Amino acid sequence: MRHLLSLVDVTTDEISRIFAIAEDLKSKYRNGVRESLLPGRVMALIFEKPSLRTRVSFQAGMTHLGGSSMMLGDDVGFGKRERADDFARVLSELVDLIVWRSKRHETVQEFAQHATCPVINGLTDRAHPCQALADLFTLRECTGTLEGMKLAWVGDANNVARSLAWGCARMGVHFAIATPIGYEFESTLPDELQHEHPDLQWTATHDPQEAIRDAHCVYTDVWASMGQEGQQQQRRRDFAAYQVTGELMRKASPNAVFMHCLPARRGEEVTDEVMDSPASVIVQQAGNRMHVQKGIIMWLLGQSGQ
Ligand code: CP
Ligand code: NVA
Repeated sequence: MRHLLSLVDVTTDEISRIFAIAEDLKSKYRNGVRESLLPGRVMALIFEKPSLRTRVSFQAGMTHLGGSSMMLGDDVGFGKRERADDFARVLSELVDLIVWRSKRHETVQEFAQHATCPVINGLTDRAHPCQALADLFTLRECTGTLEGMKLAWVGDANNVARSLAWGCARMGVHFAIATPIGYEFESTLPDELQHEHPDLQWTATHDPQEAIRDAHCVYTDVWASMGQEGQQQQRRRDFAAYQVTGELMRKASPNAVFMHCLPARRGEEVTDEVMDSPASVIVQQAGNRMHVQKGIIMWLLGQSGQ
């Protein structure tokens, strides 16, 4: 059974396939066509953390495809009423696809081991694969190609950054990251990436200006992710020099775009000037979550023969 728990799970060709489906469905959607490709199919969503984009884009996308979706709440009693393996086997008997947003990556991994239908990671503390796929799809829309592109991440080496690092490696995009000392990726990550992609283009630095030099895309995210609220004050101090400002943006490649997975804390990791500038593609990026996830759904259901 194929799942999408992280971008370690997909090949370059598979990402290209997902993008091709997404591009086709987006263009049809723009022309008012919503083909009923998945009539009668049901998606269940379980979210242990808040969500606007991921939840709504999956539910709207599934409706466009002629299927339906249900958001499962506390009343299903995950982790409380029965063992996780029993829960997984029963839920996947009842629905065709499950989207899971979990506090712990291991929870989704364990669930997927027992599920008999595809499971999609809708964000964990470790990875946000759907976000990274939509980001690379958006970058390609903006620049026309991913070949020769450089994406600079300024801020925390978090779940979104890790998925983007994998996505960039898969798609041949130079990934450059600038973090404060103590907030870097695990030291094994570059070797893991290079093992699969010997031609990996990779920069890790503590200097935002070095990371964004010649970048075609500058990306940031909140300094304290969901679940790290207790570290907010400390992180505000530690990340103060990592704010994406207009001045920093001007040091990137001319015409560089600005991305943020959202929600943003304006005035912390990014200024209003950058968020609202012509370079900012944050709304297009959020909209593409839906189109790319339709590609993911179609690809995964096709793979599993469901
Ligand atoms: N970017 C993202 O995943 O947003 P939500 O948390 O609103 O789903
Ligand atoms: N890094 C953020 C992303 C939110 C979409 C978080 O995990 O809270």
